[in-house]
Amino acid sequence: MLGVARHFFTLAIFYALCGMALGLSMAISQDHSQMPTHAHIVAAGWLMSSVFAFFYQLVPAARASRLAPIHFWLSAVSGIVLMGGLFLLMRGDTWIEPAVGIASIGFYAGMLLFAVIALPAVWRGEKADAQPSQFSLNAGR
Ligand code: HEM
Ligand code: HEM
Repeated sequence: MLGVARHFFTLAIFYALCGMALGLSMAISQDHSQMPTHAHIVAAGWLMSSVFAFFYQLVPAARASRLAPIHFWLSAVSGIVLMGGLFLLMRGDTWIEPAVGIASIGFYAGMLLFAVIALPAVWRGEKADAQPSQFSLNAGR
């Protein structure tokens, strides 16, 4: 994988390991109070970061955007604060709520930024997509 695709894939694996460990601990303890945290770590973390990773790998025009690293860091920082904060919130640490709120807005802003990067790349990219070499794992930027 190349560039920001590799970063998103690494982040996705991190979320999968944390989210599944939390799911296991919920199942073993039979305490499901962290279900919203688990659901967001696996769905908004593991699944969304994986989608971003494969998208950036398959669409070089998006990967080459100067906004792509900003999308990665905004998603990573806000996502980790959001999900870590949610864990504390579900445990009863209500003081963290403002941080969770701000992180949610940051996470949404990351998705908006992705729309700005991805939509022009897919609508302009028909000609480039016709080249099979774009889909090679070894294709350059
Ligand atoms: C080691 C693997 C996993 C374990 C042990 C596990 C365990 C659990 C448990 C105990 C619950 C709470 C169920 C309830 O109280 O009704 C739950 C909910 C959930 N899990 Fe997992 N899980 C695992 C992996 C995953 C994965 C990989 C995904 C998605 C990619 C996922 C998505 C969800 C979702 C979305 C919910 C919330 C369901 C709802 O809203 O009713 N889980 N999981
Ligand atoms: C700005 C980002 C987001 C915010 C603020 C947010 C907020 C919420 C809230 C308030 C709930 C209800 C929780 C409850 O009743 O216990 C919820 C549930 C859920 N959300 Fe999100 N969400 C966000 C993003 C996402 C994304 C991107 C996904 C999936 C890709 C997702 C998947 C889910 C799932 C599966 C549930 C059900 C989990 C459960 O039953 O506890 N969310 N979300």
